[in-house]
Amino acid sequence: MSKKCSSLQLGPLSEIRNSYVVGNFDLGMYSSVNRCQLEIGGGIGVSSYVSDTDFGNYAIVGSRVSIGGFEHPLDWLSAHPFQWNQGTEHWAKSVHFEKNIEQKPIPERTIIEPDTWVGNNSVVLSGRKIQTGSVVGAGSVVTKDTPPYSISVGNPAKIIGYRFDEKTILKLLELKWWELSFNLIASINFNNINLAIQQLDKIRSEI
Ligand SMILES: CC(C)(COP(=O)(O)OP(=O)(O)OC[C@H]1O[C@@H](n2cnc3c(N)ncnc32)[C@H](O)[C@@H]1OP(=O)(O)O)[C@@H](O)C(=O)NCCC(=O)NCCS
Repeated sequence: MSKKCSSLQLGPLSEIRNSYVVGNFDLGMYSSVNRCQLEIGGGIGVSSYVSDTDFGNYAIVGSRVSIGGFEHPLDWLSAHPFQWNQGTEHWAKSVHFEKNIEQKPIPERTIIEPDTWVGNNSVVLSGRKIQTGSVVGAGSVVTKDTPPYSISVGNPAKIIGYRFDEKTILKLLELKWWELSFNLIASINFNNINLAIQQLDKIRSEI
């Protein structure tokens, strides 16, 4: 693990493997991340598994969520990993494989963009993009990219609405509050979106 962060909170029996942690990340107990990039202000709940995924700032994932699960090949003899992890399966260590498989399946990167929220018990299939500001409802299976600031639910996840009107979404995508230092955004009226946008406009014009 490469660590360059000011604060990383790890719950009991959680683990971070082969990942790059930028900062202020919170990983809940029993959760595991592998081959990920974890950005500022992000968090993952309890008993979640995330692999081959790049997070944006302030991306929040609930509990018992699976993101980026590796796709096994469907057109090989079997979908079983013994075919490409030759000799590494504990029960096949002494077996001599006649044909070496040089081309192993490569996991696609999954992208969880800034200011997103993935609800409890959801699955985000590998290679998908949860775009900025979007929300995935509890128990959903995401099979397609989610558009910015959309709310998607169900299996397969379908869009049921958007968090804001189009004008507001475009403004938020322009203002990119998640790139500002935390000290600058701390004074914003978070629960009044129109006022928050005015305040962000002012902050942006002064820096
Ligand atoms: C999706 C969610 C954010 C609510 O969004 P919303 O836009 O306020 O949605 P509403 O409550 O108005 O519901 C709209 C419709 O979607 C349905 N719906 C809401 N959440 C749903 C879900 N997770 N799965 C399936 N359907 C859902 C509602 O039943 C409703 O259906 P109807 O129009 O047929 O009555 C919320 O329901 C949810 O899933 N939150 C996640 C909670 C969680 O996991 N917390 C973990 C903390 S990290």
